[in-house]
Amino acid sequence: MGQKNSQKKKNNNNNIKDEKLKRTSFEFLNIIGRGGFGKVWKVYSRKYCAQFAMKEMSKAKIIDKKSEKSVKYERDLLAIMHHPFIINMHFCFQDNDFLYIGMDLLTGGDLRYHLIKRRKFNEEETKFFIGCIILTLEYLHVNNIIHRDLKPENLVLNSNGYVKLTDFGIAKIYQKENHKETSGTPGYMAPEVMCFQNHTHAVDYFALGVIGYEFMMGTRPYLGKNRKEIKEKIMARQAKVKTEQIPKGWSIESADFINKLLQRKPNNRLGLSGSKEIKEHIWLKNFNWKDLYLGKIKAPFIPKQGGENYDFKYCNAGDKIGIKTEERYYQIKNSSKYIEAFRDFYYFNRYSYSDNEDENKRKIIIKNPHKIYEEEEKNIQRYENNLDNENNNNNIKKMILRNKSIDNDYFNKLKNNNLFKKEFENEKNYLILRRGASAKSTNILLKEYRKNKSLNSSLQSRRGNSTNISMVQKK
Ligand SMILES: Nc1ncnc2c1ncn2[C@@H]1O[C@H](COP(=O)(O)OP(=O)(O)OP(=O)(O)O)[C@@H](O)[C@H]1O
Ligand SMILES: [Mg+2]
Repeated sequence: MGQKNSQKKKNNNNNIKDEKLKRTSFEFLNIIGRGGFGKVWKVYSRKYCAQFAMKEMSKAKIIDKKSEKSVKYERDLLAIMHHPFIINMHFCFQDNDFLYIGMDLLTGGDLRYHLIKRRKFNEEETKFFIGCIILTLEYLHVNNIIHRDLKPENLVLNSNGYVKLTDFGIAKIYQKENHKETSGTPGYMAPEVMCFQNHTHAVDYFALGVIGYEFMMGTRPYLGKNRKEIKEKIMARQAKVKTEQIPKGWSIESADFINKLLQRKPNNRLGLSGSKEIKEHIWLKNFNWKDLYLGKIKAPFIPKQGGENYDFKYCNAGDKIGIKTEERYYQIKNSSKYIEAFRDFYYFNRYSYSDNEDENKRKIIIKNPHKIYEEEEKNIQRYENNLDNENNNNNIKKMILRNKSIDNDYFNKLKNNNLFKKEFENEKNYLILRRGASAKSTNILLKEYRKNKSLNSSLQSRRGNSTNISMVQKK
């Protein structure tokens, strides 16, 4: 009986409601970021043997700023979104003073931190960052979500230098009548938002233009001490990177791209009709979106490894709260709405910790236009596995005869594969045909291949990384 009960208890541990997380479930290691309502901590969980980023937000401050709805909205959006370039939320809980959001810990630092240190980025780095942001925005916009607070501090790097978008505090599902919603950060805010007009996803592309300009020029296109001053600057003139201003090492196409995003009138702005026209801009013509999504491109900027990529002084500066504010917080804490306001602010993603994560079990209710890349990759993998299976010679033959084009895909994949590249960097005259297979099956492939392609028949077998590599010499 006792055993049964403990078994039942164990099973229930998987239940979201029973996952009683509290502050003491974590070791709070150090502060790695600061936000509008509190701090972001690096924490360690003994139970899950993992580190997380934990956003800690003061409930009194949220209520004081009348932001209860937007904080819940952020939680709701993070719970349904799932994309490699969007921060992954694992859990939410609360105590008397704070709300907590547990997320993937990104150790590369945010782009504001790096921009302050570096002042500017180069064209290659900027293109890579912008590429990541475009895929992220594409995902959001396909799902009718506008982020509305795109800026360097909300773009955090992982250790590989890939950008992830955080801070969905003012993101919203698009509604036609939204002219009253004017939250955001003035320097990145589109003119239509500043002027209380209805706005669309094009506001995110305006912010992307500001970011591109800032990375290139080291300063924002419209400067001012406050919202009013910035608005006046925007109203006065159309910002533009002039040809003579383009920094050394940057192309004319990059300036054209930024200028088109910065258009004050949304109807003239690149991206108004969707991400397709952005991706087709000449500056991004040869961008390999699939490899970017799959994380196969080596980022041009790799953040410091192991070290702390954040401004220690800024993150640890104490909050100065005046007596009046303190009194207001005291009253809020004693009001009846204090407990009610966040009653349901709990969340636990039970698939975060599962070894055999079955993504389909997640509550995916939104579309991912990039899933197709994952599917294609799986198909190529399957094909490759088949090739490597020596008992499968006939199938290989059939496959090639049935679908000749897959051959090219397979070749290109191998040619682009980092491991192979490293091994055969100097072997430009060879096409790598296949690996890990017997001479017999290689010959079948070769024969089929020779029928269609102009290749020399010389075949080499090489040992590389403990696998047999077969290569065909180019003519
Ligand atoms: N998952 C994470 N891993 C590492 N650092 C993070 C993570 N999430 C946020 N940060 C850092 O903490 C900072 C504040 O986080 P975030 O932007 O989510 O807070 P916020 O309260 O919404 O800020 P805002 O004042 O813009 O509303 C970020 O700028 C970033 O530097
Ligand atoms: Mg932020």
